[in-house]
Amino acid sequence: MTDAIDSVDTPTPRRNPKPEAKTIGGRELKPSTLMMGHGYDPVLSEGSLKAPIFLTSTFAFENSAAGKRHFEGITGKRPGGAEGLVYSRFNGPNQEILEDRLSIWDGAEDALSFSSGMTAITVMLLAFCAQGDVIVHSGPLYAATEGFVAKVLSKFGVTYVDFPAGASREEIDAVLEKAKAQAADQGGKVAMVYLESPANPTNALVDVEAVQASRDAILDADETPIAIDNTFLGPLWSRPLDHGADIVVYSLTKYVGGHSDLVAGSIAGAKKWMDPVRALRNTMGGIADPNTAWMLMRSLETVELRMERAGRNAEKVCAFLKDHPKVEGIGYLGFISDPSQQDIFDRLYTGAGSTFSLFVKGGEEEAFRFLDNLKIAKLAVSLGGTETLASCPAAMTHLSVPDERKAQLGITPNLVRISIGIEDPDDLIADFAQALDAV
Ligand SMILES: Cc1ncc(COP(=O)(O)O)c(C=O)c1O
Repeated sequence: MTDAIDSVDTPTPRRNPKPEAKTIGGRELKPSTLMMGHGYDPVLSEGSLKAPIFLTSTFAFENSAAGKRHFEGITGKRPGGAEGLVYSRFNGPNQEILEDRLSIWDGAEDALSFSSGMTAITVMLLAFCAQGDVIVHSGPLYAATEGFVAKVLSKFGVTYVDFPAGASREEIDAVLEKAKAQAADQGGKVAMVYLESPANPTNALVDVEAVQASRDAILDADETPIAIDNTFLGPLWSRPLDHGADIVVYSLTKYVGGHSDLVAGSIAGAKKWMDPVRALRNTMGGIADPNTAWMLMRSLETVELRMERAGRNAEKVCAFLKDHPKVEGIGYLGFISDPSQQDIFDRLYTGAGSTFSLFVKGGEEEAFRFLDNLKIAKLAVSLGGTETLASCPAAMTHLSVPDERKAQLGITPNLVRISIGIEDPDDLIADFAQALDAV
């Protein structure tokens, strides 16, 4: 028998080297500048200014030792993932460039892309949980996330405890103590604190700084990461990793993709949190496909422009809707009435976003009449696209939520959720005005 050939330690050049230069003359370059070229070297692709789409299922190794070394990265024998390209369920040039660029927005060490926001969330949760563990989460969460924790993880002996978005430090402390005791009873650990802020669809904010302080006081910070769904205000107006979160989660389908033409998701954070999730993604699949990764790179070039414009539009539209006689109220982060929510907003956010709730005076009938009379805004679920969308959560996205829980969350039949796009704001106001007239 011959000895196995040791893998050689001379590193293969990365196909898409991470450029060191993120500064010029001491000036740190902004994400919007870096989105044009970071992580891509045209020399490696025939000078093509834009990265080509790499439609391949597998990658040729330069030699057998390199193949072995790359698999050591894939299987976790070497931390940090493979240093070369291997197989398209594990990695690919488009996904790697995308992940490098996503990391920049949140100031993260590493990022992972997925085929949907829900794939990102579910693979991440599975990677951190074992039988007997407890998940702590804020509420409400996006309905599918809440359902996965309550109905799917529970099948594997993972339980949960939740607290309402907006909870105080004392309330969060009490819930973490309860979770710790529950985990001890079950022979497990508190596997993750999972947050969503602003929450879907209420726009309630979670105080991530208070959650971090509480986690650090009660639990082991190396064992229980804090993850936060930043879909509604990230990456532009919210940087949760700067305020105590360990992992930031996105449905890239929304503002980051931004054109309502793709479905994708991501997580970002320190490598030590990304490595176990990457390992499970390697096993289960669920990485974004090359075409979607390419579309997201295009979208990232304009994400700041699009979000700024949508945010300014929403401000104008909400100012019009606020005092309209057919409007009962408006849930927009530019008009917060609760002082503790305003305090969280002032500390953690730099913009009010462009997704809000409009309470039409009346009930479902009036909400439907408003929706059915919109001419520019489209009647569709989702948010964060270039076009304005409107829907009725109680009758659509949250139809399956029990009435009692809906009432508790303030998801009333007259609630219309609106995501403002980048159209002309006065045209949008004219559209909302005529649709309200028809009510
Ligand atoms: C806050 C939030 N998180 C996660 C998701 C799930 O994302 P996806 O539809 O990309 O799976 C959504 C979808 O609406 C969402 O609104």
